Amino acid sequence: MEVVPLESDTEVATLAADTIEAAVRTRPDAVLGLATGSTPLLTYRELIRRHHAGTGPSYARVWCFTLDEYVGLPPGHPGSYRATIARELTDPLGIPAECVRGPDPTEAHLASAGERYEAELKAAGGVEVQLLGIGSDGHLAFNEPGSSLGSLTRIKTLAEQTRQDNARFFGSSDEVPRHVLTQGLGTILRARHLLLLATGPGKAHALAAAVEGPLSATCPASVLQLHPHATVLVDPAAAQGLERRAHYREVYDAKPAWQGL
Ligand code: PGA
Repeated sequence: MEVVPLESDTEVATLAADTIEAAVRTRPDAVLGLATGSTPLLTYRELIRRHHAGTGPSYARVWCFTLDEYVGLPPGHPGSYRATIARELTDPLGIPAECVRGPDPTEAHLASAGERYEAELKAAGGVEVQLLGIGSDGHLAFNEPGSSLGSLTRIKTLAEQTRQDNARFFGSSDEVPRHVLTQGLGTILRARHLLLLATGPGKAHALAAAVEGPLSATCPASVLQLHPHATVLVDPAAAQGLERRAHYREVYDAKPAWQGL
């Protein structure tokens, strides 16, 4: 795992945007793995800014797969992740709705939704770069503490902490759905490059556990330790708990210029 301590959340967004753009330039039909939540928003705004400035790559042929989706919201609900990702990124980049896929939360088909999503991911050739946030309880996508490290896409029940954390998108935690469909930790591990962004003091504890603690289902984000190409971009507030923070930065500064992230 490569941990990159940066000066600010703006630097995190700049480097994340650089990485996504590089993937699309290398492979114009790349499959991008997108995350929702507050953390990636600065990155999405930066990608849109560059797109409007005419300096970004063409997104005409990319495919996007989201990590997770709430179950039980009416179709088109602004809090759904399908609506969120369209509003915050894919519509402004001009990516057609049919090229943006997510787990299907239709009640009648829930039992097979996980398997169908896994099949779609496989048919698309797998994810090139998977953007990730980390929950304050260490969750990855909606894989809450205790999730199997080998899990695939399936229905899960949200932890109370997560419903409270996400209340800001709904008005109150009571309105946050109890169930979600989420890529499993095993699904996420299949992406070719994992790019985890962590910003703000609320993530310091979970990030330290994920990066420097033991590999454990108790901290689902620690599964990144198993991946051959995982990068963690972190701002000073989220890096507070990292014992080897100075070392990570030295390693990053000493990287050969050709190596990239
Ligand atoms: P956040 O959520 O980016 O809104 O903090 C991250 C997550 O829950 O994975």
